[in-house]
Amino acid sequence: MQLTIRALSKQYANGVQALDGISLDIPAGMFGLLGPNGAGKSTLMRTLATLQEADGGGARLGDIDILREPARVRQVLGYLPQDFGVYPKVSALDLLDHLARLKGVVNASERRATVEALLQRVNLFDVRKQALGGFSGGMRQRFGIAQALIGSPKLIIVDEPTAGLDPEERVRFHNLLADIAQDIVVILSTHIVSDVSDLCSRLAIINKGRVLLTGEPAALVANLKGRIWGAAVDKQAVESLKATMPVIATRLHSGRTLLRVYAESPPAAGFERAEADLEDVYFCAIGGHLTQAASAAAGAA
Ligand SMILES: Nc1ncnc2c1ncn2[C@@H]1O[C@H](COP(=O)(O)OP(=O)(O)OP(=O)(O)O)[C@@H](O)[C@H]1O
Ligand SMILES: [Mg+2]
Repeated sequence: MQLTIRALSKQYANGVQALDGISLDIPAGMFGLLGPNGAGKSTLMRTLATLQEADGGGARLGDIDILREPARVRQVLGYLPQDFGVYPKVSALDLLDHLARLKGVVNASERRATVEALLQRVNLFDVRKQALGGFSGGMRQRFGIAQALIGSPKLIIVDEPTAGLDPEERVRFHNLLADIAQDIVVILSTHIVSDVSDLCSRLAIINKGRVLLTGEPAALVANLKGRIWGAAVDKQAVESLKATMPVIATRLHSGRTLLRVYAESPPAAGFERAEADLEDVYFCAIGGHLTQAASAAAGAA
């Protein structure tokens, strides 16, 4: 099963062009959709989840035309929205049972087996009778994955699922996602680069409704090799340096500022080659220093 997105566009009534010709090929496995606030991630995900319409373009999942056959999509879709709300007074068991019934698991014993297996899988079986209002953020997100998994979906869409999770819960959540992405398409949106580097076999970086870069994390990083430079400078010097060279990131370290710069050769005295990572790829793409064409050319060279 493969997801194919072609020239998808969407303009909201207020004039914001949230999707501006998005085209992507997404194979089975975990796909990371990386972009800053307002990039269009949730708009794209809601469109694929058939919750809102596009203005133009198309999307297919296997033989399903996503824009024209929403009912078929919903049969094979699991979706965890960015603002997933729960009924605070209802137990995990009861809400999951209710959601399974809505999703068409009508046979009571089959439903009980499904719900209990899902609660085991997301490690909430022991707390299944507790009210959801008392769950931590991580427990709530794991519940969100359990409901997305009802009915063995072929496409799972999770919108910023790790926001607000502590490091331990993030790792637990990552493991859970990695486990389900064996032969189905899982799309995860995030603005946290490490979510993608730890987890996704492919990614796209989007901003302002456009795809800036897409590929495999390791290949995208390899394409930057030798072109990231670092130096520690005084805080006062940062602004003037930014005006003269493509600074992609600044970070404070022991009272000094560490600069990272994208350049073919040393941008100034005192700069040393730094090892590129996916964060550099992200900031280069968002900063407009790296395009798909440039990245592909570097990869071919
Ligand atoms: N219902 C709406 N009506 C008008 N504009 C909207 C609507 N929903 C989103 N937008 C705008 O469309 C753009 C894309 O928003 P979207 O929520 O898809 O971005 P996002 O990448 O999910 O951002 P975030 O990381 O903050 O969740 C933004 O400029 C946003 O303000
Ligand atoms: Mg969003």
